[in-house]
Amino acid sequence: MEAEALPLVNILDLKEDVPPRIAPPAPAVSYTGEKFGITVHVVRNGKCQLHGVDNVGTVPAAVTAYLAVHEFKPDLVISVGTAGGFKARGAAIGDVFLATAFANHDRRIPIPGFDKYGVWRIDAVPAPNLREALSLKEGVVSSGNSLDYSKEDWDQLHANEAAVKEMEAAGISWVAHLHNVPFLALKSITDIVDGDRPPQEEFLENLHAAAQALQRVISPVLEFVAGKSVKEL
Ligand code: ADE
Repeated sequence: MEAEALPLVNILDLKEDVPPRIAPPAPAVSYTGEKFGITVHVVRNGKCQLHGVDNVGTVPAAVTAYLAVHEFKPDLVISVGTAGGFKARGAAIGDVFLATAFANHDRRIPIPGFDKYGVWRIDAVPAPNLREALSLKEGVVSSGNSLDYSKEDWDQLHANEAAVKEMEAAGISWVAHLHNVPFLALKSITDIVDGDRPPQEEFLENLHAAAQALQRVISPVLEFVAGKSVKEL
């Protein structure tokens, strides 16, 4: 979302790519700059032409990631954004989690082979040194295309051992896997999934604070990864 991306663009002093590096009709918007000796691109999914709101969910995330990987040929992809967190797995509002794995909780295909394909589940690049250096919490990030959850989603979130629930990372993990690009995710918690408040209320209340938490963490993360091999993360 723009509200998640712009604080990063500002703190990193990136400039919007004009003319666009990701060509229309893709609605994605990209920003580029140099930081800590590396080239950094922030790419957001842009706005929906029909509804005027940010494009969210696994489909825009995967399309944007695919186009961005082709255009920018990154050494590392990081999905940075907000998410719901499970207090049973240690999450509190404003925490920033580093993903250990990615899975889907709303792709139910009860046919042998397709059942596992639907859930997908893939490990993130291990980054124990990054986690420790920044004192980040860690856990499985589970993606779906709803802010709330059905009974079936809830059961799969638990089967996935999800600490974090959001709407993009599993789609991007598929794209990163296709291209063999290392993939990490940093997710800041806006709402407690196993709490007692509607997610939309908590999300809107805490979006600004969670985006600021991402803004605080992004420079130290980039400084840490700059010049390191994946094995050193
Ligand atoms: N983004 C922020 N909170 C979320 C939640 N509870 N579910 C999905 N995406 C989110």
